[in-house]
Amino acid sequence: MKKLKYLAVIALLSISGGCSVIHASAGYHPVLIAHRGSSAIEPEHTALSYARAIKDKADYIEIDLRETKDGHLIAIHDKTVDRTTDGKGMTDDLSLAQIKKLNAGKGEKILTLEEIIQKFGQTANYYIETRESNGSLVMEKKLIDILQKHKLISSHKAVIESFSGKSLKKVRSMDKKVPLVRLLKDNEAEEINDKQLQTIRTYADTVGLNAKLANEAVVKRIHHNKMKVHVFFDKEDEHTLTPIMLKQKADGVFTNNPAYTRGVLQNSK
Ligand code: G3P
Repeated sequence: MKKLKYLAVIALLSISGGCSVIHASAGYHPVLIAHRGSSAIEPEHTALSYARAIKDKADYIEIDLRETKDGHLIAIHDKTVDRTTDGKGMTDDLSLAQIKKLNAGKGEKILTLEEIIQKFGQTANYYIETRESNGSLVMEKKLIDILQKHKLISSHKAVIESFSGKSLKKVRSMDKKVPLVRLLKDNEAEEINDKQLQTIRTYADTVGLNAKLANEAVVKRIHHNKMKVHVFFDKEDEHTLTPIMLKQKADGVFTNNPAYTRGVLQNSK
């Protein structure tokens, strides 16, 4: 009888299909998303940060995308290179050659998306954030081309997240399979209702919001609307809110230190 139940669960999981990681198996197995890599330990978005995240068993490495002046997709969060490198200036005012001269911490370089994928290949899962560029959608086609070229969508190794519904809809129009996460700004998360969630569900599988706003009612509402919930943190809240988010059964948890979050998860079982 036990064996029959087990087989039924396996059959259900196979039918549900989709991304092998984002659709967790029976029981509670939240995905751990290494925010800019293991960014509490190594300089964010660098090879060191991503290697550490993979070593510490993150399910995904997170990559913020921006475009250089000459149209290369690179991994950097801020509008300017000032905070994370020894240089100055707007990221999209600098060419890739200029970007490559900068020290992103511990002598590391800012990486292009292609370099990250070439380095980590199929050993990593990629959770990639798109954004609008002054209201325009400039990165979606390039991103999908790169992911398809490296077969990361067909092998269920890529997820795309964005605060821009417009960007995600463009991605969905080009690729029907890649899982999409609609990030909510705090003001959107505070007022989210069933109607808005159903609209998001027409193009995305998962909703991402700041953990400080992910109370039990919000998490239940998102689940009730048949979507997954991923939570991110203000840096100073991560240690306080991680155990609470795991207790509330968030489907995905961002982390600046995957080893820490993996430990909290194990201790909470
Ligand atoms: O990426 C989602 C979350 O980390 C919050 O956004 O881009 O400000 O780090 P960001």
